[in-house]
Amino acid sequence: MRFSLTLALPLVVSGAFVPFVEPADHSHSFVQSGVAPRGRNVTINGVLTYVTLPKNKKFDKSKAVVFLTDVFGLPSIDNPLLADKFADAGFATFVPDYLNGDALPQGGNSTAWRANHTEAHTTPPLLAVISALKKKGFKKIAATGYCFGGLYVTRLVQNNTIAVGSMAHPSALSVPNDFVLAKDQSDVPVHINNAERDTGFTVALAGVTDGVMGDGQYEPGYLRTQFDAVAHGFAVRADPANPVAVAAKQGAFDETIKFFKEHL
Ligand SMILES: *[C@@H]1O[C@H](CO)[C@@H](O)[C@H](O)[C@H]1NC(C)=O
Ligand SMILES: *[C@@H]1O[C@H](CO)[C@@H](O)[C@H](O)[C@H]1NC(C)=O
Ligand SMILES: *[C@@H]1O[C@H](CO)[C@@H](O)[C@H](O)[C@H]1NC(C)=O
Ligand SMILES: *[C@@H]1O[C@H](CO)[C@@H](O)[C@H](O)[C@H]1NC(C)=O
Repeated sequence: MRFSLTLALPLVVSGAFVPFVEPADHSHSFVQSGVAPRGRNVTINGVLTYVTLPKNKKFDKSKAVVFLTDVFGLPSIDNPLLADKFADAGFATFVPDYLNGDALPQGGNSTAWRANHTEAHTTPPLLAVISALKKKGFKKIAATGYCFGGLYVTRLVQNNTIAVGSMAHPSALSVPNDFVLAKDQSDVPVHINNAERDTGFTVALAGVTDGVMGDGQYEPGYLRTQFDAVAHGFAVRADPANPVAVAAKQGAFDETIKFFKEHL
């Protein structure tokens, strides 16, 4: 008893909580009218899921990407369009509605909203979809998560539920605690795309994460790729008039795909 308390205490008290950050530019999507996602909504194990498949039907049916959205969920067109890019890169891609039909509306009160979207609300639909995918033969599952979704990629890593995880500008993590836990119990390679101007997962917290995971300390594999002159949310939405933002969004996607191809 005493022993386990001594071990557990530093994990509880030494972490910084990564605050929830709303992207500055989420009030509108930059997507031009007429652009539409090419996948479709289906129900998997009772959970609404956007499914988008590679155009070449000979894709590897043993691998899938589970895409964990930000708080704006399936109704925000940026999310299914980004999922389509994973399909274009050769992966069957599934976006479970782990927000339970209740994505944060534009201008909604995110503090009040988050009380209805705790891990207890979010985890069951997520795991219902993942277990159905495994039963369908998708033996190796990669997860990619953005902001709110970053926490869930981290949980799936910690629990060894997936084969590889990538997150961009994650929020609501405890740093370094959540990565110490991953190091203690996970076999899953981890990739992080972070933004130089993120006020949540800051460059300083990214450095703390490297202190746990970097330099070969995390044996399953760890890569962090930082994008300069961009802020929280950059991997999901980019103003087409801003070439730096466009390049960063594409760069984050490319790094995630590269990491998945290497580890899946
Ligand atoms: C999927 O469902 C969501 C939530 O109802 C909706 O906002 C979105 O437009 C639907 N997408 C497609 C491709 O039907
Ligand atoms: C948002 O919701 C929180 C919690 O319910 C509440 O304390 C806060 O006053 C609300 N903020 C606004 C701007 O309505
Ligand atoms: C949270 O859920 C409760 C129960 O369903 C509902 O009454 C309340 O309006 C919800 N709050 C928000 C901010 O959506
Ligand atoms: C991971 O495991 C913990 C501890 O068993 C559990 O509470 C949590 O719901 C799991 N989360 C996910 C996303 O699997």
